[in-house]
Amino acid sequence: MKGLLITLEGIDGSGKSTAAKHIAARLAETMSERRVVLTAEPTSGEVGKILRAELAKACGDGTKPSDAKIMQELFLFMADHAHHLTKTVLPALETGAIVLSDRYADSTAAYQGVTLRGIVPDPVSWIQSIYRPWNLRPDKTLFFVLEPHVALQRMQSRQGRQKFERLEFLRLVDENFRRMAALEPERFVQIDAKQDAKEVAKEAIKAILNLISSG
Ligand code: TYD
Repeated sequence: MKGLLITLEGIDGSGKSTAAKHIAARLAETMSERRVVLTAEPTSGEVGKILRAELAKACGDGTKPSDAKIMQELFLFMADHAHHLTKTVLPALETGAIVLSDRYADSTAAYQGVTLRGIVPDPVSWIQSIYRPWNLRPDKTLFFVLEPHVALQRMQSRQGRQKFERLEFLRLVDENFRRMAALEPERFVQIDAKQDAKEVAKEAIKAILNLISSG
């Protein structure tokens, strides 16, 4: 049986992580013969740990990081992605599993596509061109679409806000995601993330079951 790679993407606060848990549980129930692997980026592996520590340090002091620091962050996200592919995603797919990844390489294109502005020309395309020769393209990408100001309101109550959670920044990330989705409409399925969590999960599961029954 062929494995399936499904990624969940969207800005912070769009409800991906909550939906991912519901979707994984529901799929495991509906398709008991098939292994469902729920995974995420940044990972909890070695590079992911370094990355989270760096993100936590960078949080909140308001000073603009150097270009070198921004590049360091990009390559940590890329190294973490490479590690995720080799250690988790590819081996699981080989066993025929359905792999659900809460964020994947598109997050790097969308987020670092903003942080790298002014350092490299057309950063989204540049990042995508680095990934292209070795990355595995998802079978489907569920894009959780939510207005950035609504996402931010939802996050006000969360503890430990991260540096990527500012409105202007999220607006630019959101634009990148929307542009990427428009360029690959056959891969990106847009999910209206404004609905309540149950409806969001339902819509996402429907898209995945469609994909499974068509392939
Ligand atoms: P997130 O999915 O929010 O992790 P957590 O479960 O800790 O909330 O990811 C952490 C932040 O990293 C988030 O703001 C998005 C950002 N990010 C990037 O900037 N580039 C990437 O490639 C990835 C995977 C995440």
